[in-house]
Amino acid sequence: MTITKLPSTHEGQRPEYPSGDLCRPAELIPGVDVSGMVDADNGLVDRAIFTDHRLYQQEQARVFAASWLFLGHADQLAKPGDFFTTFMGEDPVIVAKDKSGRIRAYLNSCRHRGARVLRADYGATRAFTCTYHGWSYDLEGTLTSVPNEDGYPQGEWDRAQWGLLEVAQLDTVLGLIFATWNPEAPPLLDQLGDMKWYMEAFLDRDSEGTTVVGGITKWVLKGNWKLAAEQFGTDWYHVNMSHASALMVLSPTGKGPKAEIADTRGRQYSDERGNGTGFPTHPKSRFDAQPVHEYYDYAALRKRLGDARAEGPMTTAHATVFPNFSYLPVNGSIRVWHPKGPDAMEVWAWTVLDRSMPEEVRNAQRLYNLRTFGPSGIFEQDDGENWSEIQAISHGWRTNTLPLNYQMGIGSERHDSDYPGSTSGLYSDSAGRRFYRRWAELMNTPAWHERGE
Ligand code: FES
Ligand code: FE
Repeated sequence: MTITKLPSTHEGQRPEYPSGDLCRPAELIPGVDVSGMVDADNGLVDRAIFTDHRLYQQEQARVFAASWLFLGHADQLAKPGDFFTTFMGEDPVIVAKDKSGRIRAYLNSCRHRGARVLRADYGATRAFTCTYHGWSYDLEGTLTSVPNEDGYPQGEWDRAQWGLLEVAQLDTVLGLIFATWNPEAPPLLDQLGDMKWYMEAFLDRDSEGTTVVGGITKWVLKGNWKLAAEQFGTDWYHVNMSHASALMVLSPTGKGPKAEIADTRGRQYSDERGNGTGFPTHPKSRFDAQPVHEYYDYAALRKRLGDARAEGPMTTAHATVFPNFSYLPVNGSIRVWHPKGPDAMEVWAWTVLDRSMPEEVRNAQRLYNLRTFGPSGIFEQDDGENWSEIQAISHGWRTNTLPLNYQMGIGSERHDSDYPGSTSGLYSDSAGRRFYRRWAELMNTPAWHERGE
């Protein structure tokens, strides 16, 4: 029998990959100009930004691809080979310690036919081996083993070209891991700016740093991810009404919101990078778990963090680091709002604790977090219900064409000597306006990968 070798069908037809790493620029469905949908100066937002599928795709390519995104806590990885999996926007990623102990993050998609290389939530491994055909990558992301490799064209096949795609930048701050696909993104600390000062009030109370306990609680909510992110950045205003019954249960005096929470003293920080945090400065507005409250030496904390941070920013604050990382110091909750289409989000929530906390205090804080802001927590359910309700009715023609109001506190921002950056009153939409201003700027700016350089 004679075997005739057929000419290679792809000769002369190889597509051009300008970046040289076999990744073509992800050209967009022509970018939609969102200028008419977000009027940050006048505090108006069009509901289509929560419902429109084209805008959602553009958001993946321009907001999530371009920004620093929260991946997890550094304590989730103890030694080389430890890994966990998460998402950056809708892209699945592996976060792992390589052989040298460096934290790395890779797209969790096999370079062969695209299956997820790792399907476990977390674990420890010597290699990332895809369960579809068995391609295997080392901890540095290099493709090291290909079953039946001699079947690939001799002389043309360059295995080194087919390693896992690594994020462009990865950094940690206050025990938190962030990464971005954007090689041109300014350093993480620049993205945080003055926001880091406020984060320290929660994450730098202990010279030993923080740790996470109890795993990650994950649940799906109907509602666009921005509804949750903006609320955590800008909205103390809803607390008295939405959480009235929960506040009654937790009220230290038993008198509920009117006696304790209605006091509006406090500040709200916001910046042009879209970050925001608000906090009451009235001691009656504290709702921490009793064992945690008794554990802290407040005089020592005042010394460590300064007077301005020892109350609100450290305890009953709310905060969002743009775009989708949020936290609540009072119960040690950190969370990320993963987008799952325009109409749904997946909430991933951790309990963060000071590393020096004794076991019984850790346990008290973990349980308090679950009772208040776990998926069936007495506060969490109120918030989720509001977001799902808004989303459910926003597809109507009439609802979809009516703007939403973010006008509270317009023009009230100022520089206060006690607090870095720009702050407004506790009841304000200042951080919301800046969140959407930043979102619109990114949506209207072609990202690095669209330029095809
Ligand atoms: Fe991973 Fe084929 S898809 S080895
Ligand atoms: Fe709430």
